[in-house]
Amino acid sequence: MRHWYDQAIIYQIYPKSFQDSNNDGIGDLNGIRKRIPYLKELGINAVWLNPIFVSPQVDNGYDVSNYFAIDPKMGTMEDMDNLIKEMHEAGIHVIMDFVLNHTSDQHPWFQDAIKNPESIYRDYYIFAGENNQRPNNWGSFFGGSVWEKDPAGTGQFYFHLFDKRMPDLNWKNPEVRHAMTEIAKYWLEKGIDGLRLDAFIHIAKADLRQNFPVNSKDEEPVIAEPFFANLPQVQKWMRLFCEEIKQDYPDALLLGEAASANVNLAVDYTNQDNHLMDSVITFRYFTEDQSKIDPSFLSNYQPKPLDWVKFKQNQTIWQQTLSGISKPTLYWNNHDMARLATRIAKNDIQARSLAMLMYLQCGIPIIYYGEELGMKNLQFEDINDFKDDTVKEFVTSAEKAGKTSKEALLMASKTHKLPARGPMPWDNERNNGFTEKEPWIKGRKLDKVNVADEIADDSSMFNFYKKLISLKKEQLFQEGNYYLWPTSNGSYVYERNLKDKKALIAVSLSQEPIELEVGKEFSSERLAAGEYDLTAGKLRLEPYAGVVLEN
Ligand code: GLC
Ligand code: CA
Repeated sequence: MRHWYDQAIIYQIYPKSFQDSNNDGIGDLNGIRKRIPYLKELGINAVWLNPIFVSPQVDNGYDVSNYFAIDPKMGTMEDMDNLIKEMHEAGIHVIMDFVLNHTSDQHPWFQDAIKNPESIYRDYYIFAGENNQRPNNWGSFFGGSVWEKDPAGTGQFYFHLFDKRMPDLNWKNPEVRHAMTEIAKYWLEKGIDGLRLDAFIHIAKADLRQNFPVNSKDEEPVIAEPFFANLPQVQKWMRLFCEEIKQDYPDALLLGEAASANVNLAVDYTNQDNHLMDSVITFRYFTEDQSKIDPSFLSNYQPKPLDWVKFKQNQTIWQQTLSGISKPTLYWNNHDMARLATRIAKNDIQARSLAMLMYLQCGIPIIYYGEELGMKNLQFEDINDFKDDTVKEFVTSAEKAGKTSKEALLMASKTHKLPARGPMPWDNERNNGFTEKEPWIKGRKLDKVNVADEIADDSSMFNFYKKLISLKKEQLFQEGNYYLWPTSNGSYVYERNLKDKKALIAVSLSQEPIELEVGKEFSSERLAAGEYDLTAGKLRLEPYAGVVLEN
């Protein structure tokens, strides 16, 4: 069966930061509606919205307290219905972020569970331990232990992989599985076209009585991924969920966030015979080069260059292994990592050539809002703007090693996820047309880009992305075979071919000009980033340049 998402080109919108329509400083649904013509102009055919359900916003919407309503800061259900309708009229599919591993601690289920020890909702969550003794030494992704004391004072603890205000659901309980499936169906019934399954790889946990074996004698909790990521029960429980959804909504895209999944797990998760999801987002593409880390302080927020050899390996492995099974997702950044123009690209030319490199491979592009303008991470000037204890630890450790707090904050601003969530710049007006009040997120804008200027300039990044997206829609780039040319580490060169059509995507990763023998076959240019020369089958690429050639 053919699906709309076989040809998906997704644009990720962080709703709080896209467009504010009522000047409270927070982006909202009516703001997004206003910008549908922009999305259409860019040429994408799907949007993924980060969570917009009712939420205390401890984790910017990933802590849901009511799945059946829109957060009032985002708008109303009517706004959402209109958004879906207008997106569809513009030929754009709508994918919602679906948070299924945990809820907010303000969710009525959890509230009842802690108020009433006899509550049936007690078993919707994971309570364990006794006499105020934590069941194990597992650590939370957001720092500290995964265990938080039961506020009811039972001497037990509840499990939270993320913030302590985000208790994990107990997927062992068939009622939880049923409830989450019903919520998903409710939204699909409203007409949305797909779900991004947030953190689904964590829904199963190992036997809670086990400590994760570690060398150190201290009692510090440790991130125990093998005990709570990608366990076999994840597939069993997700299968029930996915099958039921696909039965009623066979054309719904199920896009799993599988952060730590390797390619073999990605095969399991997306192989049609397994009746799970259609595609997954892995975080394994970007191996960082650890060799330049300063060992005198914490490494987590020190900027690290990408390991390009590993990157080439990773890309090829995912391209080859998933071939004929499912489409890989293709992306350079998202709301959980620093932006491409800050983290990796040395300049505007490289930002373009890397986009070309990534998105013309086999798979589903996911473009993070503002990336198409060359937007950078914000610079946070005040440590409190990070709202993340791990940054405080980082700054303290850097200061002990002799760095100033300013230097440490600069490093964190370049590497942390929060400064990657800045307001979309629309024009040259106040706050770049995002809001007339103060934006919800503080920070200094380090780039000068905005939509109005870029639309008007034929040579802008925006117009480059527009061409790239339209190229991606061609059959050759949708269905063609992929293979990596054996070139030196200073370049990434691959071919796409379909019957007698061929394209060569040649990208320099080097700060020096490079030369490649490409043969006389590839003679016509389809897209270029930076300067190049092609004479008698010899291709010369200026630093960081890239070109798409066809036969
Ligand atoms: C996913 C989201 C991330 C969030 C976490 C908890 O990893 O991408 O932003 O913090 O899930 O829901
Ligand atoms: Ca608003």
